[in-house]
Amino acid sequence: MPILYLLFVLMLSSASSISYCTEHDRNSLLRFLGGLSQDGGLAASWRDGKDYCSWEGITCSSSTASKAATVTDVLLASKKLKGSISPTLGSLPGLLRLNLSHNSLSGSLPSEIMSSGSIVVLDVLNISSNKFAAEFPSLGAVANLVALNGSNNSFTGMLPVAPLCRASPSLALLDLSHNRFTGEVSLALASYSMLKVPKAGRNNLSGILPFELFDMTSLEHLSFPNNGLEGELDGSHMAKLSNLVTLDLGGNCFHGKIPESIGQLNKLEKLSLYSNKMSGNLSPSLSNCTLLTTIDLKINSFSGDLGNVDFSALHNLKTLDLLANNFSGIIPESIYSCSNLTALRCVV
Ligand SMILES: *[C@@H]1O[C@H](CO)[C@@H](O)[C@H](O)[C@H]1NC(C)=O
Ligand SMILES: *[C@@H]1O[C@H](CO)[C@@H](O)[C@H](O)[C@H]1NC(C)=O
Ligand SMILES: *[C@@H]1O[C@H](CO)[C@@H](O)[C@H](O)[C@H]1NC(C)=O
Ligand SMILES: *[C@@H]1O[C@H](CO)[C@@H](O)[C@H](O)[C@H]1NC(C)=O
Ligand SMILES: *[C@@H]1O[C@H](CO)[C@@H](O)[C@H](O)[C@H]1NC(C)=O
Ligand SMILES: *[C@@H]1O[C@H](CO)[C@@H](O)[C@H](O)[C@H]1NC(C)=O
Ligand SMILES: *[C@@H]1O[C@H](CO)[C@@H](O)[C@H](O)[C@H]1NC(C)=O
Ligand SMILES: *[C@@H]1O[C@H](CO)[C@@H](O)[C@H](O)[C@H]1NC(C)=O
Repeated sequence: MPILYLLFVLMLSSASSISYCTEHDRNSLLRFLGGLSQDGGLAASWRDGKDYCSWEGITCSSSTASKAATVTDVLLASKKLKGSISPTLGSLPGLLRLNLSHNSLSGSLPSEIMSSGSIVVLDVLNISSNKFAAEFPSLGAVANLVALNGSNNSFTGMLPVAPLCRASPSLALLDLSHNRFTGEVSLALASYSMLKVPKAGRNNLSGILPFELFDMTSLEHLSFPNNGLEGELDGSHMAKLSNLVTLDLGGNCFHGKIPESIGQLNKLEKLSLYSNKMSGNLSPSLSNCTLLTTIDLKINSFSGDLGNVDFSALHNLKTLDLLANNFSGIIPESIYSCSNLTALRCVV
């Protein structure tokens, strides 16, 4: 996995240059503990006086004669934690990974975690599946951030994309789905040149997706289903998404055709455009996407003869859902050669 590899390299390169006072890290952790209203038994392990590097969920860089051990990981997923996150976590100078997913933490995410006064080397921030309900601090300040999962909370406001010039250059994964984000998707999202996985489904985003997003060769999963997005899929730009595996824009208000250039996305496995206002014929070039396993186009206004597409080339197709469209003609025989197909709905 390239993301993991990158994480590993970043960990090695940043952990080696850190030296800091141990009292400082310990106090930061204890203040975090103090901010919790329910600690899931953590206090028993985090006893004052003990070496904090052996506390539950804590990992440190190894100490050497010249350098004190510093906290690199705070991994406390699914620990039944309640309360709010103390801003002091943002002052752990060597923090690489913060995983607080699947707890009941609430309030806001302290901006200190994204932009601390001390050396911030955070690579992974996972605060998914909590009860945060506030605006998300800007992603601008953490230069090393590779993965951020803030999904399944109640974050509000605009997507927290940094101003153009301050985008975290290493960001590869950004999952902000299932929140209450509103407004348009900022053009600045397209300035994360290593972004592979932007996900922001199940929000209340509106407007058009910036066409620059469709110029990002880095993208592997473009996933913004169940929002209020509109506009057309721009064929001339879409052809550049040569690494795209998943295109999931279902449950929006897109209109227009599926561009012919879809045939150039030869890594595409999932095409999901259900519940939009799209129309026109299916392009014959679709048969070029031989890795497709899922085509979900239900509840649109696609029309024309399905015989346009040579389905026999789509060996890997498992699901083809064309329900509630305006197709005409008969189901083409080429579909019967898709021996992997287990779900077919096409009431034409
Ligand atoms: C966070 O914790 C979850 C649950 O234990 C785990 O699946 C995930 O790999 C952890 N690490 C990161 C970096 O999020
Ligand atoms: C974050 O945590 C969730 C659940 O604990 C896990 O599924 C996911 O893999 C973790 N990592 C990232 C980067 O989302
Ligand atoms: C983010 O975390 C959630 C669980 O909290 C998990 O279901 C989801 O797969 C994670 N996102 C990514 C892109 O890993
Ligand atoms: C979303 O969070 C809730 C708790 O707030 C949890 O029960 C649910 O499993 C989470 N969903 C995912 C996909 O992780
Ligand atoms: C979504 O945003 C629209 C305006 O863009 C607003 O009218 C609507 O109430 C919002 N819906 C929710 C569930 O927040
Ligand atoms: C089909 O794929 C080939 C190779 O990737 C490409 O050269 C060609 O332009 C594609 N055809 C269409 C109609 O997109
Ligand atoms: C069915 O899919 C598998 C991979 O998922 C592929 O190896 C196999 O060739 C496919 N079957 C046919 C008949 O194409
Ligand atoms: C779908 O086809 C029906 C019957 O041919 C026609 O009345 C209807 O206007 C068409 N709808 C759209 C959205 O094209």
